[in-house]
Amino acid sequence: MSQIEKQLEALKQEANNCKNCELCKTRTNIVFSDGCSNAPVIFIGEAPGQNEDETGIPFIGRAGQLLRKFMFETNFKDGDFYIANTLKCRPPKNRKPTKEEKAACCNFLEKQIELINPKLIVLVGSTALESFIDDKKLTITKARGKIFEKDGRKFFPIFHPSYLLRYHSLEENSPRYLFKKDLETIRAIIN
Ligand code: URA
Repeated sequence: MSQIEKQLEALKQEANNCKNCELCKTRTNIVFSDGCSNAPVIFIGEAPGQNEDETGIPFIGRAGQLLRKFMFETNFKDGDFYIANTLKCRPPKNRKPTKEEKAACCNFLEKQIELINPKLIVLVGSTALESFIDDKKLTITKARGKIFEKDGRKFFPIFHPSYLLRYHSLEENSPRYLFKKDLETIRAIIN
């Protein structure tokens, strides 16, 4: 195990014992991460859903499977990425994370980012966008596909795959078309 893997494992143990917010009372498992600790890119989603809470693995429910399918189609390999969320625990009924929950949890994510030190941070959906880019007027539709630089890091927002579950078309400028195009851009940036 590398030094970084050991530090990530210790952080995961800390998260396992975390009682910083009320979500610790309703979680089945914390959902720490998936993927490779020396990946050039981190994908950051919103929060675990039911499947993630049950298994402890991020993005494995319906939306997650769609994200992984598009990533597979755009040639992402296992060693290419690391996945986490703004929250480690599932909010009941999949409601949006509150400001307080995000504040209670962000230490873990910040340390994960510091340890992995990726070339690019992909913000998957509006919750992740709001957590990192402080601009109330910025919607995910406006922000997606653009690079934002802050504190020496590069951020790249994309649609959340749950949005794509409602739109099936792949025609030019459709949500799925733009999503695939953004994943291709990410691939080009990290290559
Ligand atoms: N949606 C997210 O944002 N994250 C997950 O892990 C699963 C679904």
